[in-house]
Amino acid sequence: MKIIRSPYGIFSRKKLAFTLLMLIPLLGIAQEINSPDGDLHLKFKLVNGKPQYQLNFKGNPVIKPSFLGLELKNIPSMVEGFEVEKTEKQTVDTSWNPVWGEEKVIRNHYNELLVTLYQPEYYRNIRIRFRLFNDGLGFRYEFPRQENLSYFVIEEEKTQFRLSGNHKIFWIPGDYDTNEYPYTTSKISEIPGLQEEATIEITAQSPIENPSVQTPSMMKSDDGLYINIHEAALQNYPAMQLDVNAKDFLLTSHLVPDAVGNKGYIQTGAHSPWRTIVVSDDARDILSSRLILNLNDPTNYEDVSWIHPMKYMGVWWEYFVTGKSTWAYAKETNTKLEEDPTNLTPSGRHGANTEHVKEYIDFAAENGFDAVLVEGWNIGWEDWIGNWKEEVFDFVTPYPDYDVEEVNKYAHSKGVEIIMHHETGASATNYERRLDTAFRFMDKYGYDAVKTGYVGQIVPRGEHHDGQWMVNHYIHVAREAADHEIMVNSHEAVRPTGLHRTYPNWIAQESARGTEFEAMAGLAPEHATILPFTRLMGGPMDYTPGIFQLDLSAYGNDDHNVNTTLAKQLAYYVTMYSPLQMAADLPENYKKYPDAFQFIKDVAVDWDQSFILEAEPGDYVTIARKAKNKKEWYVGGITDENARTAEISFDFLPKGEKYIATIYADGKDAGWNTNQHSYSIKKVVVDSKSRLKQKLAPGGGVAISVKEGSKEEQKGLKRI
Ligand code: NOJ
Ligand code: CA
Repeated sequence: MKIIRSPYGIFSRKKLAFTLLMLIPLLGIAQEINSPDGDLHLKFKLVNGKPQYQLNFKGNPVIKPSFLGLELKNIPSMVEGFEVEKTEKQTVDTSWNPVWGEEKVIRNHYNELLVTLYQPEYYRNIRIRFRLFNDGLGFRYEFPRQENLSYFVIEEEKTQFRLSGNHKIFWIPGDYDTNEYPYTTSKISEIPGLQEEATIEITAQSPIENPSVQTPSMMKSDDGLYINIHEAALQNYPAMQLDVNAKDFLLTSHLVPDAVGNKGYIQTGAHSPWRTIVVSDDARDILSSRLILNLNDPTNYEDVSWIHPMKYMGVWWEYFVTGKSTWAYAKETNTKLEEDPTNLTPSGRHGANTEHVKEYIDFAAENGFDAVLVEGWNIGWEDWIGNWKEEVFDFVTPYPDYDVEEVNKYAHSKGVEIIMHHETGASATNYERRLDTAFRFMDKYGYDAVKTGYVGQIVPRGEHHDGQWMVNHYIHVAREAADHEIMVNSHEAVRPTGLHRTYPNWIAQESARGTEFEAMAGLAPEHATILPFTRLMGGPMDYTPGIFQLDLSAYGNDDHNVNTTLAKQLAYYVTMYSPLQMAADLPENYKKYPDAFQFIKDVAVDWDQSFILEAEPGDYVTIARKAKNKKEWYVGGITDENARTAEISFDFLPKGEKYIATIYADGKDAGWNTNQHSYSIKKVVVDSKSRLKQKLAPGGGVAISVKEGSKEEQKGLKRI
């Protein structure tokens, strides 16, 4: 037998001829798959050796023919010169149960096309794996181990998303370090003209100079198609931003570089994150999509029983609004970790002192909260910000007026946990060195959750919040935390990509402009109607809702207010999905409105099922959710600056059963900038046939709890 050596190994002549014969039809010929319901259609082909895909929805283009590939550093690129070596197809239809979530059962149903490409000039292979679901497309690059390619550095990923028109887009400007921008709504063509205005000043920002946007990027076409572009399972790779060619409506991947400008170090036997395109002609489907979670790996944690959703309060909002207390203990502004903190000069304004924290614990315990977050308990806050300091916190030394042991003992005696706070000041090197000690310290006192923070410029200096190094850092922290049975809520980390499926103790993230900005410049009334379609597509947000004292002049701040009604703050507990929900305001403010506070006390944080009732990005969102393992439902509806009437159908209730609904509504005279505290509460009897037309004030909302009630309790209540 004549043996032929080829880059693949050893072939017989017969086998080679057969292989070539099989290859001929693949050259230049399109490979196609449909979504299980047939609405989405994906076509892949090579055009002059360049990989190209296109995506249609009900016969209309979502993504017009767009090229795929990667530019590599110092070696030939992976954008052209390809042949199709092999294509494989499969259908998968399974279900799985998340540890916590918006649903207790998630269906994972897709058709897959796996294309193996060969670059004969360099004897190199890559694969592109497409998964087409009813709710959209995911695809990724795979770099198999091979003789002629072991290590490479990415210069840029060249994934295109060629849109079919000048869509409306909800966007924040491209930036390597922060996603805490307010959203701009415009046409794609208007992005370049608005980029400068949109790039407001934020601590430690690195905006991309050319027109670009961040993901999740939400768009709507003129004919009512909703398109969301993001990524899933971001691991060992930089985050993807999108360059905008506003003339051709073409978005192209732009990876976040590292300190020397490189965009990813790959050792073959690896793959990129998934690029995701969620599509529907009904905006509600975007919010109910579980595509991003489905594309993430199942967890390999053996025991997840220690992971639990929770509601918490915190020594936190007072730092932002009252002007009376701070994180820092001392008057000095140049401090060192190795110095004895008892030599510092107390300012008298330190918030996290034992006595004050106990007040929060008492209030949290009385009202059934699971935990209290304590920020500013540890040394280092005197010069933590703006100095690009490496040895900024040690995560174990309390200030002299804070007794860690006593506080934890007191909290535990009342059935409350203390949430640890690890602000890192973005010094990730310092945090990694001290991580094990920090988690052992937490174990010693019985902490089971930590809020991490990354305010400032990253150390290692030159790295970015969203680069490969930091992406790996956040995951490292989540995994180490899991070894100590600790849950993590990260702030200022790279935006989520569904990794909470794989690391379910990474229970929430901020990674967007949250409530803290209500204390600074205020959030636009439409902001919270955009977030579910953008930031929350990747995972739960620690939005920190529940502000009741909305008029900030109560604290002497006459600049601006919290731009919502009180009822809207309640609605957030349902519309801003998170297994970790804060009641962010001060106990004294909750004491002023005990009837409204009841909703926050009642609302669940883990769900059997979610029902997206009404949704339009930038305008309104109404969601109902069934509490996990309980016959209780909670509804939240919010609107932008315009008043509206929410039409709430209770057909999510079991048929033939009557429940008591408590409706927390905006007062007739309420609005985000007038009579914000005006609300009404009424009880009615509802069943699955009930329909409610509920008025929402400008910038307002509605929150409803639905619970079982005896005949006696139902008596005298109106039926709707
Ligand atoms: C920014 C976080 O988002 C905020 O919640 C925290 O209080 C400060 N950093 C200080 O860590
Ligand atoms: Ca923040």
